[in-house]
Amino acid sequence: MTEQFKVQIDTLAQNVFRICIGEPNGFIAFNHFLIVDECPVLMHLGHRQSFDLLYRAVAEILDPAKLRYLAFSHYEADECGALNQWLETAPDAEVLVGKICASSLRDFALRPPTVLHDGQSVLLGRDKLILLETPHFPHNWDACLFYLKGQRILFGSDLGTQKGLQPVYSEPDTPVKAALALQEAIAFMPWGPHLDAGVQKLQSLQIDILATMHGSALNQQQTTQFLAGLTQANQRSVGAL
Ligand SMILES: [Fe+2]
Ligand SMILES: [Fe+2]
Repeated sequence: MTEQFKVQIDTLAQNVFRICIGEPNGFIAFNHFLIVDECPVLMHLGHRQSFDLLYRAVAEILDPAKLRYLAFSHYEADECGALNQWLETAPDAEVLVGKICASSLRDFALRPPTVLHDGQSVLLGRDKLILLETPHFPHNWDACLFYLKGQRILFGSDLGTQKGLQPVYSEPDTPVKAALALQEAIAFMPWGPHLDAGVQKLQSLQIDILATMHGSALNQQQTTQFLAGLTQANQRSVGAL
């Protein structure tokens, strides 16, 4: 899992970088985000097998051994497969999780995680990172999302997923239509009350950038359209049951 993969580093926002790893014709590509602050954060730890690629990309921006926080949404290979490799790389790094994910990590991880409750934050230096508990949203019971308060960036994990290798930002309609179409086609997020609860929680925030794990990021307007479209699709889907 090395030669066929393309690695692309882009600026998502000031001091926030997107590292995208994916095959040119793959179904989806994988975005990892690096927040550069006094306490640097790696958001999405990547697959175990692509650790070397991600390590080299992180090293182009900062010393990977200096990472202070490791974060992800839910217990799944693309989110945290390489967690132990990162814990070995960065001796002071803490893994930030919600209470539901903590039980998996207490068994799986080399060091115990730091458990944050809903709405609790860690100070990074200039900015603050807040954990939001969002069970089953975008999927998995243990799901949480992270919000960078000062820059109003939501790290939305699989929320807004689009297929293929995509630029860091895209044309106004493109990522919104693609993300809604993919959810309608394969329903990788559960339809029903958990989706509504997750959307409502996000609608109470000011989100300037929705950083997606797969595909282009959404700006403020695109995020508003996407969340509204998701609610409408959820109503249609639940009504059809
Ligand atoms: Fe996922
Ligand atoms: Fe994912």
